[in-house]
Amino acid sequence: MTKKYKIAVIGGGSSYTPELIDGFIKKAPELPVSDIYLEDIEQGKEKLEIVGALAERMVKKAGLDINIHLTLNQEEAISGADFVVSQFRVGGLDARIRDEKIPLKYGVIGQETTGPGGFAKALRTIPVIMNICKDIQRLAPSAWLINFTNPSGIITETVLNHTKVKAVGLCNVPVNMINYVAQVFEVEMERVYIEFAGLNHLVWGQKIYLDGEDVTEKLLDILITGKNFTMKNIPDLIWDKDLIKSLGMLPCPYHRYYYMSDKMLEEEIKEASSEGTRGEVVKNIEKELFKLYKNPSLDIKPPELEKRGGALYSYAACNLIDSIANNKKDIQTVNVRNNGTILDLPEDVAIETNCIIGKNGASPLTVGHVPAKIRGLMQAVKAYEQLTVEAGVKGDYYTALQALTIHPLVPSADVAKKILDDILRQNKEFLPQFQG
Ligand code: G6P
Repeated sequence: MTKKYKIAVIGGGSSYTPELIDGFIKKAPELPVSDIYLEDIEQGKEKLEIVGALAERMVKKAGLDINIHLTLNQEEAISGADFVVSQFRVGGLDARIRDEKIPLKYGVIGQETTGPGGFAKALRTIPVIMNICKDIQRLAPSAWLINFTNPSGIITETVLNHTKVKAVGLCNVPVNMINYVAQVFEVEMERVYIEFAGLNHLVWGQKIYLDGEDVTEKLLDILITGKNFTMKNIPDLIWDKDLIKSLGMLPCPYHRYYYMSDKMLEEEIKEASSEGTRGEVVKNIEKELFKLYKNPSLDIKPPELEKRGGALYSYAACNLIDSIANNKKDIQTVNVRNNGTILDLPEDVAIETNCIIGKNGASPLTVGHVPAKIRGLMQAVKAYEQLTVEAGVKGDYYTALQALTIHPLVPSADVAKKILDDILRQNKEFLPQFQG
């Protein structure tokens, strides 16, 4: 008899869940799933019930025999699972909005994952992911953790270095970059191959191939003539022609925060005083989404979900699970332990890179050294990430201060300290590791 899988989704009440369910439905012929446990915390109960009912309708419409379970019990969800998908947000959107606003107060980019906003999110998330991993080790020791929880690279590095859980970190940015290239050349995504190297939300496409032909230059010429590339959550600022020419590779949408910090900051300030920060905008989109989800005649993933930044989330997640489950040994871009893949980074850090995916997880393909033009930024951000993991695990103020101080978007130790103190004050209830 073919094996059927149990999937646990931590943060199951998320508005993204229909995206994930849609992915499992599409993959059903190759990836038979018997049970999906959508788990959330007490505060997320109402959302969980709404989204869970929609998930049930979606599965029914697809004529599939998948049992959807809704639970507030993490142990029940994880116990015996084959895959644990983590997509939770500690403190909800209100915490995200605070993360975006604190840095802005000091003239620093305020973003959910990049810079001090992502740092605050990491500190809140680390104790929670450690607790989830304890349960996985105890109740589902052979399960794979598919981590989508942001900041995905930092959280994955925490799990890889501080737990025994088998984990792969995931992000939808690389697949969106592939999709962009496919759209530019009007071909299917499968014909495009990008040699990725970097960190989560700081990944470069070093070389781009179409049917085996190197089309990097052709693509960059198109990028600078205005066929712009971004994601719904990042302001669509046009890349500078000379920047792209000198870079000679495809930046990811998040690089704008580093390469165009001043313009991005201006944009954020403008947005914060008009429609609100991205978190505030998303809060409204979510309200609308949940109104739609409540409709008992809705039984598909609604197109309105595309207003969120998570495009192709389920494509990435379900392809990864499928390739692990079916030992496909295909190439996907995920977050893994460096292990000498990028020679300019320490071995024990998480990187985002092309890997062969099979039943043993993700084996990275060699990158070697990266050119100096991207090396410095990558190393600086990685050092910040390492210190953030350490600060988040140990609850150490001085490590946290160093992490923020060396972040390329933070101008001085003085500003770092002010931001850190605000973060710690405003997140007290979520930072047990810093108490005492
Ligand atoms: C992109 C990122 C994700 C992030 C999402 C936020 O897809 O890759 O890591 O979670 O955007 O989108 P939102 O709609 O919440 O701003």
